[in-house]
Amino acid sequence: MNVIATPEGTQDRLFAQCRDLRKAQGELTRLFRQKGYEEISTPEVEFYDLFLRSGNPIPQESMLKIVDRSGKLMVMRPDCTTPIARVAATKLKLSPLPQRLYYNETVFRSGAAHRGGSSEIPQCGIELLGAGGVEADVEAVSVAAEALLAVCPQGFHIELGHAGLFRALAGQLEMSEGQVEEMRALVEGKHFAALEEFLRPYEGRAAYALLSRLSQLFGGVEVLGEAEKLMGSRPELSYLRKLYEALERGGCGEYIRFDLGLVHQIDYYTGVVFRGYARGVGAPVLSGGRYDNLLGAFGRPAPAIGFAVDMDLVAGSTAEQTYGGRLRLALTKGRLQDKTVELMELAGLDCTPVKEPGRRLVHSLSNYPLDAVLAKAPDVITYVEHGVCDLGVVGKDTILERGESPFYEVLDLGYGKCRFALAVKEGTDFYDTYRTRRIATKYPNVARRFFESKGMDVEIIKIEGSVELAPILKLADAIVDIVETGATLRENGLIPIEDVAPVSARLIVNTAAMKLKKTEILDFIEKCQTGMERSKC
Ligand code: PRP
Repeated sequence: MNVIATPEGTQDRLFAQCRDLRKAQGELTRLFRQKGYEEISTPEVEFYDLFLRSGNPIPQESMLKIVDRSGKLMVMRPDCTTPIARVAATKLKLSPLPQRLYYNETVFRSGAAHRGGSSEIPQCGIELLGAGGVEADVEAVSVAAEALLAVCPQGFHIELGHAGLFRALAGQLEMSEGQVEEMRALVEGKHFAALEEFLRPYEGRAAYALLSRLSQLFGGVEVLGEAEKLMGSRPELSYLRKLYEALERGGCGEYIRFDLGLVHQIDYYTGVVFRGYARGVGAPVLSGGRYDNLLGAFGRPAPAIGFAVDMDLVAGSTAEQTYGGRLRLALTKGRLQDKTVELMELAGLDCTPVKEPGRRLVHSLSNYPLDAVLAKAPDVITYVEHGVCDLGVVGKDTILERGESPFYEVLDLGYGKCRFALAVKEGTDFYDTYRTRRIATKYPNVARRFFESKGMDVEIIKIEGSVELAPILKLADAIVDIVETGATLRENGLIPIEDVAPVSARLIVNTAAMKLKKTEILDFIEKCQTGMERSKC
């Protein structure tokens, strides 16, 4: 074992890094104290069950677990709000509400390997416990704006959404829980076209017009008007307007935007939800919302609202990363590159440099403010996820294999069409045995999820290429692989027995870039749509 390396997701902080972090923490803790908030510090280790009780949506696999001497399962604190709710319901039980608390702590989350994520996230945040209504929301959002004003001098904005809006609209469509979750994921991931397609059977229903556009309703206060035009007035929209007007009166109007498609952690948040974006930072720097049910879970029902700032993202974040005002698009090298060039040219973009790339990897278009970066498919996702590219074109196969999608998947570009299929050697009956079947694949996550959904326990073996060899050589009973024309399967005596998922090229967008470069990105999306229309002619 290499004991001189730090565990993945952790780092030693030296000198300027410490100074930047301490300076930003100092700015925020000073601000919170000025606003009447008192510091609270909870243990770094908590019982695992605490987080089950809270209904907190942090996935089990993201929590760092420890077993104590008596065999109890503990976790390194994955968030600060739940322990604070525990304290509010115990040690602070007799203290009158509202309570204003702030923290300056580290939270621990274990991310996927080699993705550049951090397992130790220093956070500064506030919780305003026992206060509901617009006044409390104005207070929390105003403190959030002042916090970012102090630590993001390069410019920022805070966007507001409402957890109740999606729930109320979805409730009108008599969908199963699974369908609501599918729709929520489409809204959250800004799958513009796929959401409209998903809701097509509900056309004509009152909620259809607004729901099908929900993921596109982000920007200035005008989006509230647009939403009202689609469905008339709704209490959640009127509430957001009231909140905005109060924030404007308080002098923070210029920092406020809206995203009616903010539908993350929908069972946890109960009212306004908000996120902060800073120029040049590829992920939200602040996240918060109203969570009126959490304290009740610990026996002290009371409304509450709070937010946390990711201090690693804001500390020393002064550099403006705008790529000289140009968009940066990561293109999957090879066939998708050629097809995307065709599409962009149909929309009038001169792609000559990308057509003759030589060994160069970055190419500037001459008649459109865009730089194209040529990369391998999984790297396209990595670059977009980290915000070093604003947009990417990548196959759905790579997205499905990656699993999590911390980016927006805005368009199905319609080319690169193929499918994932389960295939076996001709003449074999895959299901005719109790033996655990062995599956060879280049896509172990896709295969695992497919068999999990069927309730089948299989053994998965990762193969790097020409996976068809595995059943021929009797290493595996079947393969899960991409089938396009079917020629490779046929020529190797294999037949597809089940479809796993359709695949095609997708346009993906970094979440922060979508908000910070909205006009430019929507223009590029429109160009892609124009290209798609023209390619049909
Ligand atoms: C893909 C896939 C199949 C083949 C399917 O492989 O893994 O082998 O294409 O195409 P078809 O249905 O049109 O025959 P790829 O060409 O990427 O090579 P690899 O297997 O070596 O990765």
